[in-house]
Amino acid sequence: MILDAIEKRQSIRAYKDEPIKEAELREVLEAGRMAPSGCNKQPWKFVVVQDRVMIGKLVHAIGGQEFVGKAAALVVACKDGTGYHIGKRYDGGVIDITIALDHMTLQAASIGIGTCWLGMYDGEEVEQLLGIPAQNPVVAILAMGYPEGEPGRKPRRKAFDDVVCWEKFTT
Ligand SMILES: Cc1cc2nc3c(=O)[nH]c(=O)nc-3n(C[C@H](O)[C@H](O)[C@H](O)COP(=O)(O)O)c2cc1C
Repeated sequence: MILDAIEKRQSIRAYKDEPIKEAELREVLEAGRMAPSGCNKQPWKFVVVQDRVMIGKLVHAIGGQEFVGKAAALVVACKDGTGYHIGKRYDGGVIDITIALDHMTLQAASIGIGTCWLGMYDGEEVEQLLGIPAQNPVVAILAMGYPEGEPGRKPRRKAFDDVVCWEKFTT
């Protein structure tokens, strides 16, 4: 069942002109809230933007990607709490937030809401528009909405044997 949602999910960049039902939006956010995090720090804050004027303003800050202006909602994920590292190398907060947003994309897919992960944005501009403090930098943004039309084919993935090796790293 989870694999069904994983297979079903693909980036959706065309949305119906229709707000997301509040109960469904809350379910999607709940999937993020329940995500795991290092030491259960839950170092996130999710700013949900549905205001059409604000979404319009954010298009410029999100790389001028026009389809973003048609999204029913944007989830702007910010770091919250003290930073920490995983294995000295990785920013724990970024990893945790990434997991939480992925949970959201899968829950959304399972109830017929399309999402698109947005990595191309000007953090300072987004932060300024939404009043996000400097200590809560934006880590990722999700666009969401009911899909308009049929999405194209999901981009293919590398073959299983090209990405999985057993016991030792093999090329
Ligand atoms: C970290 C990250 C950043 C991304 N940034 C963007 C973006 O700014 N704009 C966009 O249209 N898609 C963006 N995507 C979506 C990817 O292009 C998409 O996930 C990838 O092509 C695989 O397609 P699929 O999501 O349909 O399976 C991003 C995805 C990830 C994971």
